[in-house]
Amino acid sequence: MASLQDLSLQELCAHATKTYRQGGGSRPEVMLIRLNGEEAVLKDFSKSDPWFRRVVGPLSARREARALKQLDGARGVPRLLRRVSRDALLLEYIPGTSVREVPPGGLTPQFFERFYRLVDRLHEFGVAHCDLRSQGNILVGADGEPHVVDFAAHFRRPRSWNFAARWMYEKFREADRVAVARLKKTHAPELLTEVEKLSLTRDRKTWLERTARFIGKSVRNISRWLLTKRA
Ligand SMILES: Nc1ncnc2c1ncn2[C@@H]1O[C@H](COP(=O)(O)OP(=O)(O)OP(=O)(O)O)[C@@H](O)[C@H]1O
Ligand SMILES: [Mg+2]
Repeated sequence: MASLQDLSLQELCAHATKTYRQGGGSRPEVMLIRLNGEEAVLKDFSKSDPWFRRVVGPLSARREARALKQLDGARGVPRLLRRVSRDALLLEYIPGTSVREVPPGGLTPQFFERFYRLVDRLHEFGVAHCDLRSQGNILVGADGEPHVVDFAAHFRRPRSWNFAARWMYEKFREADRVAVARLKKTHAPELLTEVEKLSLTRDRKTWLERTARFIGKSVRNISRWLLTKRA
């Protein structure tokens, strides 16, 4: 009997039962694949626009694969099943829903505690996620536990002598933790502690975040303008 592990990219696409995100522009296609009782998620950059596919796709797939390998065994992170091609990854499927779809008040105090623990676990494995601001990247599993996906923007713990990179890594770790408080603010503001409130106020004022956001947005807009097809 055929297994998901043996299928080519084309064969996997033929067994897609749900599309989380349509590929195109600078974005990969993200699909749920089902075959003979097995389930997995395919993140396929070959569906983005030609220049992204050639340049950004393989780099993003490689980056994300590297983070997932480093995080292999960390609870709350999908396992990398395999790199199907230069620009496509097959990931463990996490049944559940993204917190974006959870109505306000739908997340429990335990969820936030466990989310903090998950963020600390990522950092113990040496990976800062860096994109927990996006609620699509945070899932509530069918088991009620938090899970995180999408490590394309991650930053790994640098070597000890690299002081500048160490400093950046600390800032990204901090940003990951503030993202938990930010999620609390949108879903259960009554649970925010004084320390979290303070961290959110400081967060808005951090020049690093503001600069990073500005650079990120500009790079993204310019590269989208240069690399994607315009109608
Ligand atoms: N391993 C997984 N298990 C279950 N669902 C997943 C998994 N990986 C991704 N998803 C779903 O697919 C969506 C998009 O995935 P992902 O964030 O990796 O792609 P993306 O291109 O960065 O999309 P976005 O810009 O919306 O964040 C997620 O919000 C989540 O709902
Ligand atoms: Mg995402």
